[in-house]
Amino acid sequence: MRAILTPKRLLLLAGAACLFSAPAWADAPELKPWLNRKLSAEARADALVRAMTTEEKMQIVRTWFPPKAEGMPGAPTDLIPSAGQMVGVPRLGIPTLRESDAGLGVANQVEQRKGDTATALPASLATAASFDREVAYEGGAMIGAEARAKRFNVLLAGGVNLTRDPWGGRDFEYLGEDPLLAGILSGEQIRGVQSNHIVSTIKHFVLNSQETGRIVVDARLDWTAMHESDLLAFKLGIEGGRPGAVMCAYNIVNSDWACENRTLLTDILRGLWGYKGWVMSDWGAVHSTAKAANAGLDQDSGAELDKGDFFRDRLTAAVAAGDVPKARFDDMVRNVLTGIIETGLYDDPMPTTNQPFDIAAHARVAQKVAEEGTVLLRNAGGMLPLAATAKRIVIIGGHADIGVLSGGGSSQVRSIGGIPLEIPLASGPASGFARTTWHNSSPMRAVQALNPRAQVSYVSESDIGAAVAAAKSADLVLVFATQWRTEAQDITNLALPGDQDALIDAVATANRHTVVIIESGGPVLMPWLNKVPAVLAAWYPGQRGGEAIANILFGKVNPSGRLPITFPATDRQAPRPEPVGLVNVANDDAASNAGSPGGETRSFIAKYPEGADVGYRWYGKKGLRPLFPFGFGLSYTQYSYANLKLAGGKTLTASFDVTNVGARAGADVPQLYVTPPSGGAVARLSGFQRIQLRPGETRHVTLTAEPRTLAKWDESAKGWHVLAGQYRAWIGHDSRDTALNGSASLAEQRFAP
Ligand code: BGC
Repeated sequence: MRAILTPKRLLLLAGAACLFSAPAWADAPELKPWLNRKLSAEARADALVRAMTTEEKMQIVRTWFPPKAEGMPGAPTDLIPSAGQMVGVPRLGIPTLRESDAGLGVANQVEQRKGDTATALPASLATAASFDREVAYEGGAMIGAEARAKRFNVLLAGGVNLTRDPWGGRDFEYLGEDPLLAGILSGEQIRGVQSNHIVSTIKHFVLNSQETGRIVVDARLDWTAMHESDLLAFKLGIEGGRPGAVMCAYNIVNSDWACENRTLLTDILRGLWGYKGWVMSDWGAVHSTAKAANAGLDQDSGAELDKGDFFRDRLTAAVAAGDVPKARFDDMVRNVLTGIIETGLYDDPMPTTNQPFDIAAHARVAQKVAEEGTVLLRNAGGMLPLAATAKRIVIIGGHADIGVLSGGGSSQVRSIGGIPLEIPLASGPASGFARTTWHNSSPMRAVQALNPRAQVSYVSESDIGAAVAAAKSADLVLVFATQWRTEAQDITNLALPGDQDALIDAVATANRHTVVIIESGGPVLMPWLNKVPAVLAAWYPGQRGGEAIANILFGKVNPSGRLPITFPATDRQAPRPEPVGLVNVANDDAASNAGSPGGETRSFIAKYPEGADVGYRWYGKKGLRPLFPFGFGLSYTQYSYANLKLAGGKTLTASFDVTNVGARAGADVPQLYVTPPSGGAVARLSGFQRIQLRPGETRHVTLTAEPRTLAKWDESAKGWHVLAGQYRAWIGHDSRDTALNGSASLAEQRFAP
């Protein structure tokens, strides 16, 4: 039974405490229930809220943006250049929150912190292409460990916006176009980050599907379709990762800004999903005080980027006037504190100085992601793997003599090993915070290391004549094609920029032993494909990308990546012919990036008529044949599938045998696709598993369909509905492959979100 603490008893206790230097009762749970680890995170947070002053609470609901806040009245004096800082309450053990972007590593855009380097993972598309839960976790755990060592305790990671358009500027930061794959892997990344007792976000909630006019675009999608697609990815990520925070997006969703959208933040996130952590805004995504606070926004991030100081004086006034009920204000604080406690951050204080970390082990994680995530798209005549017999190897383009390309924007990591090349942008919404940056992982050096006796030379892509001449006299030509993408801008078409298509065509004509390696943030078109025997999609391969690519080319690693995103045959196959609103935002950088000059652009609408049929499902529905389908990727061995057994009932289960019928060990990713019986439904990924197989080995695999991929969202009942009937299912090597197929019957069911 708990002791009842009357004021008299408290006085007695306090008096007694004066007699001893370390009062025995100081940490007594009765007095400080927030220290009682047996209580739930919410109960502890609630106790803290009750102990806080209004001023202390006000500190919690906004974060400072160090680049702008430095020297401002009231700003903390211990700002670390980064994305954000929340002032803690030391007397209650509430830590200062130091926030860093961290989707691909601890970011350090435009080298805000001089000399501060971190391990750079490949693009998240590579993680997605691995279809590997473990590698997603390892990547997150690695980033989280470095963040803690650098004293960052809130990571702006967990990007899981579905790729609805193949030219999205940030597609490289996300996990592709399928909600099941993206949701599961983002959950693993977040779980990995938070295994370090720090907070990860999941972002950007929701429908931040394009960069063009991202601050003003009104993304329109009916709620049913949203639950079956973009929201499902977030839900799975939240279930798997239990992120401390959700970052709401810049854009408008069905007529209300995402960060003041009650349907999203309160009805769905808290109500239907029961989310307990906090909702933080994207940087400069807040547009109101009472509306945002009452809709469910808990914390205004980088508040100096907003057009007004919505969550400081105005919030104080709104609470005093009752426009934001006091109980809601307390909720906001409680939600932040719940996230801090639940992730373990509250109980595991940060180091007070920067700590060392295991650079070599972390580099191995980066290389592993690159090796698992690189996709072999074409290998005519078994050209790859290459024998180390070529005497003259010519490497062309992409600055492959010095490094590998990375994607731009807030995720930019200043990688360990140094930056061999960095090109500032002359103009545009990203010019203030992005530079085209290469990591110091030279494919040329790595190729030379595997071929010590070969003469390896480099020719730039800028002189097609010189490249062709060099190709003619070579035994082997490796062309590195690049397509740069950045946050705050979409690319306007999928062609490789500049003269790269002409270059590849000319080089492949001059020498049939040509391999093309693509470093890109998403799909590219390949008009030269039939002329080139071997093509690798390496995405942005991270700080060990050169080594990973060389290992795959020369067979030290058997490629196993599968496309997490469809490669269209032409731009016109995509649901929209180009980014929506390009003309609207011309000459107005502020429409695509908060804090940029401009700001006159009126909102415009982006419609998503494809609904939940995102990516490969759109192609399936329209009967379009893409260049390479979702799920596709070759190997140096082959896998065959046999003996499919489907079981129905509550959900659908497929069991079958996978055999490595080739001569090399490798990893396969059998995929389960299911089509529900309702009219017009197209098949979708319902299960997958990455498995490692020795030559000749057979493995019996069982895949259980994620029930929500079989169900329809019922908006009036606010839940899932599985229709009774026959469900067609197949096991394939990719989304168009029907290696094994059958059907199973499911009973009708309804279940909560
Ligand atoms: C991006 C977020 C990022 C934030 C802080 C915003 O512009 O959209 O993804 O976390 O900046 O850098």
